[in-house]
Amino acid sequence: MFTESLAPDWYVDHAVYQKERERIFGPTWWLIGPLRRLANPGDYVSDRICGWPVFVIRSEDGELRAFLNVCRHRGASVLPEGVGTAKAIRCPYHGWLYDDRGQLLRAPKFGVDLKQYCDKLSLQEIGLHIWNDLVFVKINPELGVDFNEWIGEVDSLSQSFAGPADLDYYGEFIVTGDLNWKTYCDNTVEGYHLNLVHPRLGRAIADGGVELYSVNDGRSVVFDVTHGSGGGGESLRGRKGMWIYHFPGLQLVLGQNTFKAERVDSMNTTTVISKNWAWYSGLSESEREESFQWAKQIVEEDFSICSQVTRNMQSGSYLPGPLSPVMESHVARFQQIVREALAD
Ligand code: FES
Ligand SMILES: [Fe+2]
Repeated sequence: MFTESLAPDWYVDHAVYQKERERIFGPTWWLIGPLRRLANPGDYVSDRICGWPVFVIRSEDGELRAFLNVCRHRGASVLPEGVGTAKAIRCPYHGWLYDDRGQLLRAPKFGVDLKQYCDKLSLQEIGLHIWNDLVFVKINPELGVDFNEWIGEVDSLSQSFAGPADLDYYGEFIVTGDLNWKTYCDNTVEGYHLNLVHPRLGRAIADGGVELYSVNDGRSVVFDVTHGSGGGGESLRGRKGMWIYHFPGLQLVLGQNTFKAERVDSMNTTTVISKNWAWYSGLSESEREESFQWAKQIVEEDFSICSQVTRNMQSGSYLPGPLSPVMESHVARFQQIVREALAD
């Protein structure tokens, strides 16, 4: 009669997570952060995405390149996590030295000349794409689709709003939680929970001010939002806004004077990290700070309810419930996409 929500095993079984890593996370595009952090030669951003250590570096020739942050000797990370500028890529374990194209240059005191093997001992290059002044990487460049096919209609939808190039960069916040990534996506693609979980956001939206639809065959869910005067909606976010979820781990909050990009990735079955970058214009310093803190609060509110759901899934006490055909059709579609991706 109704579509049933996914069974708890999908959320807590380690084997499911391993399959997701291989079939969904490895072959897709992940936001690593704003392009502005990679302006000059040697600038790098190093991070972990779904457990994979990765970095992007601006080479001397001006090109950006992305690699797995794993030394070809015995597996240490060649650059520290974070943002920085590297004069050289020198592994901190035994000092192997790589150039900014990932080529091994020297293996000090190795005892045997590795010159003839250097080509085979380069850092592993991964996929890289710049979109909207944001840097994206793909862990397994051989699999999946190219960036333009992946982003699809999100590109044209975003163009009606301000982007990083039009606004001032404000800052980054991170929220970590004990939840399965799919509980957060289930939650993101429905507005059913909005008033109860996010009272301020509920007040900030005009009556009947949310229109929900999907594009990209259900891989992107779009909230077309009209803000009202309550809760600082219109004053902080402008009258018209748009929230986009894009499968599997990208979220955008768009407006005329605000832009927020979020990457949601998971380290294991029940650890999720939400990394957010925000830009503003036309707001005072205190309004920017208020909007930034409010955005963080919204992620925390979602993480809190999703951790509770995940704990209940882990307890073995949840029996799959019905999804509303009116309020949760995008949840059903999201879950179907996951089922299809993992089907043998
Ligand atoms: S692990 Fe990098 S030099 Fe040994
Ligand atoms: Fe929410």
